[in-house]
Amino acid sequence: MRLKGKVAVVTGAGAGIGQAVALRFAREGAGVVVAEIDSGNGQATVEAIQRSEGAALFARADVSDENDVKAMVTAASNCFGRIDILFNNAAILLHGRDTRAHELSTEVWDRTMAVNLGGYWLCSKYVIPHMLRQRQGSIIHVASPTGMLGFASLTAYSTSKGGVFALTRAMAADYAPEHIRVNAIVPGTIDTPMNAAELANEESRQRFIAMAPAGRLGIPEDICGLAVFLASDESQYCVGGFYAVDGGQTAV
Ligand SMILES: NC(=O)c1ccc[n+]([C@@H]2O[C@H](COP(=O)([O-])OP(=O)(O)OC[C@H]3O[C@@H](n4cnc5c(N)ncnc54)[C@H](O)[C@@H]3O)[C@@H](O)[C@H]2O)c1
Repeated sequence: MRLKGKVAVVTGAGAGIGQAVALRFAREGAGVVVAEIDSGNGQATVEAIQRSEGAALFARADVSDENDVKAMVTAASNCFGRIDILFNNAAILLHGRDTRAHELSTEVWDRTMAVNLGGYWLCSKYVIPHMLRQRQGSIIHVASPTGMLGFASLTAYSTSKGGVFALTRAMAADYAPEHIRVNAIVPGTIDTPMNAAELANEESRQRFIAMAPAGRLGIPEDICGLAVFLASDESQYCVGGFYAVDGGQTAV
């Protein structure tokens, strides 16, 4: 058990990558706070962890809402007494409405920024004081290749993910002296509910598969090994890094 005695907050842990990472962190011995906007899915993740004799707490939170985030972090600290790991993962991609700049609505831009970038900052803002007191912690941001490369008709999502790279660097520089490490995982195309509609179309699915030299889509469990490594004490000297898990998509 590589995370025994640690406590992890995982945002968006009701589905996809967040759910897989929450289950894996629990199997590695961490107490897990499932911070999720969808109560049914969040509770289901907690029950799955408890069925495997892990420790988990559900905290309903919209990560873009400061009061929700404050209450979630307080609940986490009251329940487990400490917070060692923050897995900033909850994000949205508003398919069909996220488009080219001149066609994009203010509503889609604002909501995407508030959740995907604002949410990572807000959760960090309220978790970091606990980590400062403990004089250690690991914050892991889930970024995206869309923040580095030009993907057509995804202006708000791509820009929010570009911001995640900058947020990772800025926070890494500020908190490394306090033994709080900030790093980012950059997944390729992972088969999750976020892109279920696109991947249900066979032509589009084949197009995404062809983008990765590994010759397949990723699955949420592909992210877990790196997430555990970055969360654990084995990655003590990893600070401000961006780590791809993308089947080679960004290597070619
Ligand atoms: N799936 C991919 O191909 C892919 C690729 C690169 C990066 N990512 C990133 O990985 C992360 C996880 O993506 P996924 O594919 O698992 O997504 P998903 O849509 O399958 O799951 C996201 C979870 O976050 C929750 N959520 C959404 N808005 C929230 C909010 N405001 N507050 C709290 N919870 C909220 C959802 O209810 C859901 O349970 C995201 O940051 C995403 O941008 C995904």
